[in-house]
Amino acid sequence: MLALGVSGAVAALGATLFPGSAAAEAMREDLSATARLMFSLRQYQLHPLLAAVVGAYLIAIAAIARKSRPGVWAGRLAAAVTALVLAQLGVGLLNAALAAPVWLQLVHLLLADLLWLALVLLTAASLEREQEAPEDLKGVRLRPAVEV
Ligand code: HEM
Repeated sequence: MLALGVSGAVAALGATLFPGSAAAEAMREDLSATARLMFSLRQYQLHPLLAAVVGAYLIAIAAIARKSRPGVWAGRLAAAVTALVLAQLGVGLLNAALAAPVWLQLVHLLLADLLWLALVLLTAASLEREQEAPEDLKGVRLRPAVEV
């Protein structure tokens, strides 16, 4: 997930510094080593590739958490993680197809942040243990202080 975020930030930097054909032009004219690096990173599609692998992993993890953790919150958060991954994959594809207009970059970034939040909360909900009564109180039946 961290590697995916970093590769996304590199893609965003490339799209901001060398939008659209500017990168190709710089490459052709051999003007800038940075432009060349950004262009080749984009060409090799590192970010979408990582997104596909990490996205599949997250959906699998969410399904496992939903099955093995009975709590209400684990189920809800697993559903949120799955929905956000699918939405983010769709928005990412649209982003690439439309050459990353600013409004869509903002949507993509917002979804990435929401996905991160949902993942942290799902982890917390999955690791949560049910509160057990202390050993010396087990089997003790509580009676009201005042009998009526
Ligand atoms: C779970 C899936 C994905 C996550 C978590 C994710 C995350 C990110 C992040 C954090 C950024 C940097 C945003 C910024 O700093 O402004 C980014 C940028 C970008 N991503 Fe993704 N991404 C995902 C899937 C995809 C896919 C499938 C594609 C394309 C096929 C894609 C295309 C892009 C592009 C073109 C940028 C640069 C423009 C921008 O900033 O929006 N992403 N992504």
